Amino acid sequence: MLSTTHLLDIDDLSTEDVHTVLDRAAALKAGEDDTRLAQQTLGMIFEKPSTRTRTSFETGMTKLGGHAVYLGPDDIHLGHGEPIKDTSRALSRYVDAVMARLFDHADCEELAEYADVPVINGLTDEAHPCQTLADLLTIREEFGFDTRVAWVGDGNNVGQSFVLGCALVGIDLTVATPEGYGMDASVLDRAAELGSAPELAESPEAAVADADVVYTDVFVSMGEEDEREEKLAAFDGYQVNADLLSYVSEETKVMHCLPAHRGEEITDEVLESDRAVVWEQAENRMHAQNGLLVELLTDD
Ligand code: CP
Ligand code: NVA
Repeated sequence: MLSTTHLLDIDDLSTEDVHTVLDRAAALKAGEDDTRLAQQTLGMIFEKPSTRTRTSFETGMTKLGGHAVYLGPDDIHLGHGEPIKDTSRALSRYVDAVMARLFDHADCEELAEYADVPVINGLTDEAHPCQTLADLLTIREEFGFDTRVAWVGDGNNVGQSFVLGCALVGIDLTVATPEGYGMDASVLDRAAELGSAPELAESPEAAVADADVVYTDVFVSMGEEDEREEKLAAFDGYQVNADLLSYVSEETKVMHCLPAHRGEEITDEVLESDRAVVWEQAENRMHAQNGLLVELLTDD
């Protein structure tokens, strides 16, 4: 049982909640927990494309004995005249939970405000809490939480939720972002409130010193295509490549939420190397979300 009904960002969960979800996820992954969501349905709204989020939630619901309904941008009236509050109230009469990938975070909040069922953020322009749960599960499996992580690149949705997640579980995080592309001040303040704000490094090289994990994400996120040239210029020197990894131990792992833009934020060489735990992260999306769904939808 969690202290929240909805997951709009990772800090809707308490530290105890995060551990509860990750413990449940690990037990489900190991086949040691047979809790099921029989006859339960997850509605999945997508305003943006997705490989992992869609497939991991859909197969996750199947494995849990439930069902998922894909509601893409051309499938429903949302975005074509029906307001969010009406979509939310109608869906609540059919499904047991809603997962939504939307542009505007405020839309996700409105969806939750009018829903009678749990709403899970499957990525907005500000946050990606389901990714953070998978990231924390992966880090816990590889290193435990007494570890040091460097975030190198954009202060975007994935990074911002990750900052809050690290604060919740006590991971020592350092962040290197180019000027003008840092995390929102409100996120850094919130992290401080939750436990500790990340250390802000002057450069990627300074950030990765002593890191057990180097984490990056695309420089140009979905919806930012018009800023492409400007952003690529601003992110010069922030690529995770062999040169940057020459500053860390050979044991240091590399994380990326995917999809990756090889040759931009990360090289093909690094992504294809033994350092990358990106497929473990991708698999853990499903296990982490299954843990979350079971905790949100059952009393077991
Ligand atoms: N990491 C992630 O959310 O991937 P998708 O965009 O493929 O869902
Ligand atoms: N920051 C990326 C994450 C994709 C999963 C984006 O928003 O496009």
